[in-house]
Amino acid sequence: MRNIVLIGFMGTGKSTVGRRLAQALSWNFVDTDAEIGDVTELSVSEIFRRYGETRFRSEESIVVTRLAQTEEIVIATGGGTVLNPINWEVLAQNGIIVSLYAPLEVILQRIGHKNDRPLLRSSPEEIKTLFLERQPFYGKADFTIDTTIRSIDEVVSEILAQL
Ligand code: S3P
Repeated sequence: MRNIVLIGFMGTGKSTVGRRLAQALSWNFVDTDAEIGDVTELSVSEIFRRYGETRFRSEESIVVTRLAQTEEIVIATGGGTVLNPINWEVLAQNGIIVSLYAPLEVILQRIGHKNDRPLLRSSPEEIKTLFLERQPFYGKADFTIDTTIRSIDEVVSEILAQL
């Protein structure tokens, strides 16, 4: 069976839901940010700080291309992964793309003080712009699940029901 690829803005629950979904399917779970961390031996924020976003995006594409060749894994992408059309194409070729959604206010509450995401260190206006700019990309998924009105297990059941 094709992979399941979770996309969506930062803080929509891609990693949490992905891990639980993989358990439910007895599949492996891979988080692209963690994978990039393993390959580079640096955290995402460290890559941004030392080498900039361009370098991060190129590491991300390498990881995505490799993962897309595997079967039956749940992949939690980074919030910006599918903005690159090549990443989208390789992931979609071998995967069902599921978008997770939460309103920006909920995302900001969830992320709160323990935020080490480089792109969320901007002003609230800039984060809002990024959020709005990205919605059309996330909207191209095979289907979208709102994660705010359901528990993690319900989100997982909803994904399984829609496959
Ligand atoms: C990013 C999201 C992050 C991470 C990086 C860039 C983005 O992942 O890939 O900081 O561009 O939205 P999460 O969505 O898992 O926070």
